[in-house]
Amino acid sequence: MLGPTRMVPAVPSLPVRFSEACERNKEPILLVLRDWLPPRARVLEVGSGSGQHAVHFARHLAGLRWQPSDRAEYLGDLRERISLEGRRDLAPGARLADPIELDVDRTDQWPQGPYEAVFSANTTHIMAAASVPRLLAGAAQVLGPGGLLLLYGPFLGGGVPTAASNAAFDAHLRSLDPSMGVRDAGVVTEQALSFGLEALADGEMPANNRILVFRKRGATS
Ligand SMILES: C[S@@+](CC[C@H](N)C(=O)[O-])C[C@H]1O[C@@H](n2cnc3c(N)ncnc32)[C@H](O)[C@@H]1O
Repeated sequence: MLGPTRMVPAVPSLPVRFSEACERNKEPILLVLRDWLPPRARVLEVGSGSGQHAVHFARHLAGLRWQPSDRAEYLGDLRERISLEGRRDLAPGARLADPIELDVDRTDQWPQGPYEAVFSANTTHIMAAASVPRLLAGAAQVLGPGGLLLLYGPFLGGGVPTAASNAAFDAHLRSLDPSMGVRDAGVVTEQALSFGLEALADGEMPANNRILVFRKRGATS
């Protein structure tokens, strides 16, 4: 059953966040990224959290150029993980940049781009509902024509029956903070369309998660 990402220290003596969920989902997500990312893709990750995804993908996708980011409160641990684990055993030609501060609500914090892809895992149900369209708008802004936005996590709706675990997770989140909640994929898709993104895929992932894939309009091919 899907629960909130639990953050515990990876090594007791180090204050680095560690997510058990990331350990379970990093390989299934990697397989999806292999299918979608173009060679030598420049990717901006929003809400990198513990940084485990960033390290894993940079170790397995040759030529990848991955830019982790997160809000200020997560940045210290994220930087520590990247400096401890993200500087060795990278795939040939892969580069893992120093994490940058990015709160999707801060228009001044979005980097210049262009990126071939924006990736974000388990963020849309944590950030405030009003922040989700800001994530979509920011992604559309930094993507080059034909660039991809990949959103991984639990979603409701969008023509997919709601899993009991996701309904329970949604209720739990809302009880903690009414601005949080598992988002409706149909609503997210409508919002994405309004920012010049088109919906390409809605892929089923383990533990009732999904990956929504969008593409910025304007590609020549
Ligand atoms: C459950 S954690 C997921 C972390 C990581 N991506 C993972 O899959 O384990 C939620 C993440 O969303 C980020 N987040 C929440 N609100 C955000 C915002 N307004 N802008 C950017 N990131 C945000 C948090 O800082 C945190 O890193």
